[in-house]
Parts: sequence; C-alpha cells; structure tokens
Amino acid sequence: MKLIKDREFGGERPLYCERDLRLEDVVIHEGESGLKESSNIEAVRCRFEGKYPLWCCDGFTVRDSIVTVGARAGFWYSRGMLMEDCLVDAPKNFRELDDFTVRRIRLDSATETFWHCRNGILEDVTASRADYIFMHCSGLKIKNLKLQGNYSFQWARDIEIRDSDLDTKDAFWETENVTVYDSRISGEYLGWHSRGLHLVRCHISGPQPLCYADGLVLEDCTFDPDADLAFEYSDVDATILGHVTSIKNPRSGRIMVGSCGRLIIDENIKAPASCMVSEGYGAPRLGSGCVKWDAPFPKGVKLDPGQRKKLIPLWVADMDFPAAPVIRDALKKRLEHGVFGYTCVPETYYDAVIGWYRTQHALELRRKWILYTTGVVPALSAVVKALAAPGEGVIIQSPVYNCFFSSIRNNGCRTVDVPLLRRDLPDGRFTYEFDYAGLEKACGESGNRVLLLCNPHNPAGRVFSREELRRVGEIALRHGVAVVSDEIHCTVVSPDRQFVPFASLGEDFLNGSVTLSSPSKGFNIAGLQTANIICPDETRRALIDKALNINEICDVNPFGPAALEAAYSPEGKQWLDELNGVIQKHYELLLETFRRELPFLPVCVLEGTYLAWIDISSLGISSEELEVKLLNDCQVWVNPGSMYGSEGYIRINLACPTAQLKEGLERIVNTLRRNPSQG
Ligand SMILES: Cc1ncc(COP(=O)(O)O)c(C=O)c1O
Repeated sequence: MKLIKDREFGGERPLYCERDLRLEDVVIHEGESGLKESSNIEAVRCRFEGKYPLWCCDGFTVRDSIVTVGARAGFWYSRGMLMEDCLVDAPKNFRELDDFTVRRIRLDSATETFWHCRNGILEDVTASRADYIFMHCSGLKIKNLKLQGNYSFQWARDIEIRDSDLDTKDAFWETENVTVYDSRISGEYLGWHSRGLHLVRCHISGPQPLCYADGLVLEDCTFDPDADLAFEYSDVDATILGHVTSIKNPRSGRIMVGSCGRLIIDENIKAPASCMVSEGYGAPRLGSGCVKWDAPFPKGVKLDPGQRKKLIPLWVADMDFPAAPVIRDALKKRLEHGVFGYTCVPETYYDAVIGWYRTQHALELRRKWILYTTGVVPALSAVVKALAAPGEGVIIQSPVYNCFFSSIRNNGCRTVDVPLLRRDLPDGRFTYEFDYAGLEKACGESGNRVLLLCNPHNPAGRVFSREELRRVGEIALRHGVAVVSDEIHCTVVSPDRQFVPFASLGEDFLNGSVTLSSPSKGFNIAGLQTANIICPDETRRALIDKALNINEICDVNPFGPAALEAAYSPEGKQWLDELNGVIQKHYELLLETFRRELPFLPVCVLEGTYLAWIDISSLGISSEELEVKLLNDCQVWVNPGSMYGSEGYIRINLACPTAQLKEGLERIVNTLRRNPSQG
C-alpha cells in the first residue's frame, strides 16, 4: 500500500482514481473531488476542507480525522466505508452509501445527512443541527445516537435503533418497519403515517404523537405529560406504563395504559370505535388481595420477599386485564348510587342474557328458564344435588376442571370418569376427543344420572363441534341421563372456531339439558359472583331452585347484574373480539416458544379458553413437583395437571400482558433447559 504522509493538496481532483493508498496527516484544502473514484484508501489523522472529497469510492477507512465545513457533500455514492473517531462539521454528507460503519463520530452540522444510505451500522454518533437526517435510508442498525434536528428518518425502512436520545420533531414519517428500543424520543408529530413502527420501552414526549400509523406497536413505553392527543386514526397495539394525558380517536387495535386523562372519541366518527382502550395496565395486582397474585403458595415453595415480588402468576383462570370500559362505567354508576342492600335482578338483566344468546348463538331462551346464582361452581353443586342422589353416578371426562370432582364428592355422589381420548397430531401437538363407547357404557349403567360436559373444555382447550355434541347428547338422552353443560368459557374462543351451546342442538337437547353460564371468564368479572342456570324442564328447574335455596346461593350482589348487562352489550362484544385476538396471539407465542426452545414438551391445540395445556411427561417429575420447582427456581406459577385428574401435564394461563407472558415463558425456558432430566 502506497503511503503519503504530512502532505497538503488543493485544487481539482488532486488524488483522482487512486488505488491502495494510505494517507497520514494529510490535508486536502479547498478545491473539488479530492479522492474521486478511488478504492482501498485509508486516511488517518487527515483533514478534509474541500468539496466532495470521497465520491464514488470503493472501500475506504477514515480514522481520527476532521471534515471541516467546506467539505460539504463529502462522502457520496460509495461503498464499504468505515469511519471511526471523526468530527464531521459539514452538511449534506453521506449519500447513497452501501455497506458502511460509523463509530464514535460527531456530526456538528448534519443537515440533510445520510440520505438514501443502505446497510449501515452506526454506533455512538452525535448529530446536531441535523434537520432532514436519515431520509430514505434502509437496513440501518443504530446504537447510542444522540440526535438534535427535525424531520429525521422520513421514508426510511428496516431500521433498528437502540439506546438513543432523539430530539426531533416530525420524526419517522412514512417509515416502514422501524423498531426503536430503550430510547427517548421527543418532538411533536412522531411517526405519522408510518407502517410497522415498533417502540419498545421508549419514553415519548411532544404533542400528537403516533397518529395515522398502521401496524403500530408499543411495548411498555412511557409518555410525557405533553404527549397529548396521541394515536389519532392509528391502528395500534400498545402497552403503556403510567399516565397518558389524552388519546384521541384511535382507529383500531388495543391500547393498555396505566391511566388516561381523556379518551376523546368524536361522536361523528365511527371507525375509531373498534380500538380497545383499557386502563389499569401495570397497576400492581400483587398485594391487592387477589387470588392469582396473593394466594399462599403450595407446600415446598420458599421465596424470600425479593423473589416474592418477582412472581409471574400464570395459574388460576383469571385475567390480568382490567375489565372492559363499558363494564367499569356501569360499575361506577352503580357505586355512585351509594346504597348496596339486598339485590334482586331487574328485567333488563334477563333481557341482556336472552339478547346475548339470541344474537350470539341464535338460541331463543325464555325468561322463566333462567335462574341466577352466585357462580358457576355454586350452580354446579346445586344442580348435582338436585339431579343426583347421594351414591348415584355423575359422568365426567377427565382431564377436567377440578371443581367437577369436588362438587360431585361434596354431594356424596360417585364420580364416573370417562376420560377424553388423546390424539397426537402430525404437527407435534395433541388434542382430545370424546370416548363415545365409554360414554355409551357409562350412561347405560343404572344409577348414573348426570353427564357433566365442559365446553369449551378446561383444560383440554376443545370447543366441541355440533356433530361431537350431538353424538354425546344422543347417547345421554337415550339413557335418560341429564346433560349439564358448563359453558363458562364460551366467550373465549379462537377466531377460527365457533362455539355451539349444547342446548342449541334441537328441542330434545334443549329440554334434556341444563346450561351453566356466566360472562365471568371472558370479561374477567369472576369476583362479582354472578352466573346463570338455564333449565327449560320445569320439574328439574324446581328441583334446582330448591337446591339453590338449600345451599343459600339465590342472592347476587348489587354489582354483578350491572356488570353482566354491560358485558352483554355491543361494546362488550367488541372488547371481547379484541380479547380473543390477543389470546390467539399469546397462544401462538407460547407454541412457537415451546417448539423452538422446549420441543420435548408438546403443546395441546387451543380452540377455546385462555388456558394452554402442556405435556410435561418427558421431564420425569410430577406436575406438582414441577409447579414447586418453577416457583422456587424462577417465580413462575402454573397449575399442575394432577388437579384436573391428569398427571404429566401443566396448565399455563395466557391472559396477561404480552410482556408478562414473554417474561414468564423465558423464565420457564431457562429453568427447564437447564434441567438435566429434560429427556
Ligand atoms: C369449567 C369451569 N367452570 C366453573 C369455573 C368457576 O366458576 P365460578 O367462578 O363462576 O364459580 C371455572 C373456573 O375456572 C371453570 O373453568
């Protein structure tokens, strides 16, 4: 390599078309195109003072050098540039570069810099007076950028930015696929008209951020008080910690925020109504007296207070999402009434239940068939008491919800288990089917009075088809066995399945069955303790009514009916549809994670409920041992399969913020990957 040292050049093209050249302590004075069309150049401790010093170059390194204000438009149409530890004080630099790296550079006058550049790495870059920087760039990976200048990154695509401080108004306009991690972004009108803008743990300030955006994702971001009127007309999926001053007319998606000062939805605008905005995100449930976070741990779990705080509960079927705004508004109204005496439900309550079944399931209920009570488990127990005498048999299909076992036992009845049949699928998952021959036999045995169905099935994740239900129903009816269908999970169904109420199969099925239902699972209002028993048969209904009275569970609290009516409203349904989309995404996240990281633990198909069911038999430990191990080792709480009558499985609750689920899954993966007995 030729060396030029301690020299000064000026005028037009003093080093035109040079090859394999090292410059040390060289000054290129005023003039034009100092090193035009050169290749394989190294410049160390140089000073570039004239216009266009490096144009159309191939492979050049610049270190410890200075580009002064006269060297405008210095580095254009070039490839293979490495620039380190330099000061660049000239505008309009770096255009149409391909494959480049800049590290530790200071750009003091960076207007119209980095245009149309592709495939670059930028680390530890400070850019000031930098209006219109990074226009039309693509494929950049940026770390620790300190930017001051407006209109940055317009029309850029495929950009990743980390740990940066961006002081820039009108940033990220019309961008595509830009992700920013752990950064501060301030300036008005952030990200307008962007597509696929993804902000992770960023702090956002400046008015009217993130409007007219498509496919916008925010994960655990925070907003300054001046970031008002956010998300106008955007399609957004956001989790926001803390407070947002105001959100205006979001178009679609979901925004979960700690609290929102004002939610502005213009009356004359229809489209934004499909965005679900829920407050309370990040509000700690730990210590709020809820079972999921505060219940005592099973035996063998020892956590110190620091570990206790790290808990990620993915167990009991309760969601960490605040209830739909329509429900919270109804409850606020009821609260403001101020009197909370004994409650009898109003006609509007029955109208809401009847209306829901009519619109959602084309099933026409009569008011007199509906008995309200304090929960589906109390209903289950009362119905078993009413329809089966002590010693008589109640048929179940394990694995199944634990209270099926206890309500049969508590009424002195016999459990007749006809387990579901597991079917392994070619994609590595598994699912379950009814054992019709087993059901035929069990229903034919004298003394078996009731068949308990769980549909959608907890924990097998099935939403049974019309044909499957018809076959089961025909068997039961033929033998005079009453079908009691627990349909508490019927609102949580994957978008490509349809829930079929057992009672909707036809007149005989309607009359031969009792349906237990409540909006409590899908709308996360289980604590309000309100459920319904639907029983068209008068004789059975009278027996059930009597059992409800004997068990003293025929009064609901004043808040339950208000919540139920709000849940079964069009706004409630819209919220529910959004929820089902979220659950679906969470299931896919879990499935991908297990397939990639823990392929020796097969995952069950999930058609309904927000409860994933995993085969852990290859670990060689019991499900209860695994529950305790996960709590002790990584503070994640899951349910053991033994609760549901099936050893060798665990159940994981998917209904929590995405970040929480991701963290929980990561911890499970790290714990079980290390496990020497992983098979
Ligand atoms: C199938 C089934 N039925 C009933 C319940 C609980 O009903 P409730 O809270 O109304 O008593 C659950 C809770 O997970 C369940 O999965």
